Amino acid sequence: MRPPPETNVSVTFDRDVCVIGGGGHVGLPLALICADSGLRTVVYDIDESKVRGIRSGRMPFREEGATEVLARALQSGRLEVESTPALMASCRVLVLVIGTPVDEHLNPSFTGLQRALDACREQLRDGQVLVIRSTVYPGTSERLQRHLDRLGVKVAVACCPERVAQGFSLREFRTLPQIVSAFSPEALRQVKELFGRFTPEFVEMTPLEAELCKLMTNAWRYVQFAAVNQFYTLASDHDVDFGRILHGCRHHYPRMAMMPGPGLTAGPCLMKDTMQLAAFSHNQFMLGHAAMLVNEGLPAHLVSLAQRQVDLSTRTVGILGMAFKAESDDPRDALSYKLKHLLSLEAKDVLCTDPYVADSRLAPLERVLAEAEVLFVGVPHAAYRTLAIPPGRTVVDVWSCLPAREDAGR
Ligand SMILES: NC(=O)c1ccc[n+]([C@@H]2O[C@H](COP(=O)([O-])OP(=O)(O)OC[C@H]3O[C@@H](n4cnc5c(N)ncnc54)[C@H](O)[C@@H]3O)[C@@H](O)[C@H]2O)c1
Repeated sequence: MRPPPETNVSVTFDRDVCVIGGGGHVGLPLALICADSGLRTVVYDIDESKVRGIRSGRMPFREEGATEVLARALQSGRLEVESTPALMASCRVLVLVIGTPVDEHLNPSFTGLQRALDACREQLRDGQVLVIRSTVYPGTSERLQRHLDRLGVKVAVACCPERVAQGFSLREFRTLPQIVSAFSPEALRQVKELFGRFTPEFVEMTPLEAELCKLMTNAWRYVQFAAVNQFYTLASDHDVDFGRILHGCRHHYPRMAMMPGPGLTAGPCLMKDTMQLAAFSHNQFMLGHAAMLVNEGLPAHLVSLAQRQVDLSTRTVGILGMAFKAESDDPRDALSYKLKHLLSLEAKDVLCTDPYVADSRLAPLERVLAEAEVLFVGVPHAAYRTLAIPPGRTVVDVWSCLPAREDAGR
């Protein structure tokens, strides 16, 4: 392990925190709670249209309670929103929370975070703390610390991974323990001071432990969903109603109370973080790869379930819900789009709808209900739970979301 970097704690800064990637799904809620907790906060994001929107009080995505907090933060003058890094030099803590995707070969990329820092090189100051909040490949925090050392700037790296559920961040910041780690006691003290404004509890780790803890959390969830999705596939292959089995597994049986239901397991984090862990294991993380095969294979299984009942090539099909999870407007890596792609190869026509996702190719719900003879539930938005499905429709509902229908045997 490298020796802790020196930090010049006597340096004074005009501002408390700059969130790099602060217009994003993780960065913006964090910036909002910082500003709302009294910290002088800067959002820095390269996406100018997001920056303009946030400055004018518009949230770029759905996030519970955020519009009110944004208005309050802007009104207080404690939130500044920038599309250049100019204000970074005046901030004591920098939080880096840009995307960390895997590439087309499912390998983690090491260069994105480093390039983002290099682009801000002129704004880095001795005495600053850099918090890595993105979910990163193990060892990334140490690499970045070494990179900063090579640049000759005394910026101390900490790693404090984000664990809140997208859409509910502002609530969860105040209830979930925060993992904190750093290479020096002074940097650790500073991140605890920052997060202590709103976090009730800390879990201290080394940076490598923190990086692995976050990846293993997401991989654990991904593997759990895969286990249930495989059970669903197995049961439905034999025309057995998996919902009844699930009820039997869970009902008044505490050891299975946490068993999730089946569904399209998607989104920007779970698969890519499982693949980051797989790469770290030199591709020996068999469970992770198996989980990917099961979860990514589910759309094809749903198509085959419909094909057993009807000839899709003569039917218009509809997909209800395109976001990656319920009540979200975020379609990133949503498996409903993979389902749409598979159906477009098999069906006469495919219509898709979603009440929240902004996508000009989507159709109104009424049209999908009127025209689609086969309906798939892509994501279980609450509105679908009481939907009146027109009679005579074939329905494939892996989530058991739609109400029971009299003309169906489900
Ligand atoms: N979305 C989640 O629920 C979630 C939860 C926990 C952790 N994470 C992790 O957090 C990280 C960010 O995810 P996200 O969902 O917020 O992504 P996002 O795409 O919503 O946000 C990233 C933001 O960074 C901005 N950006 C990109 N490059 C930049 C640069 N060089 N300088 C300044 N801004 C830049 C983008 O414009 C964007 O607004 C990822 O590592 C992700 O795995 C996400």
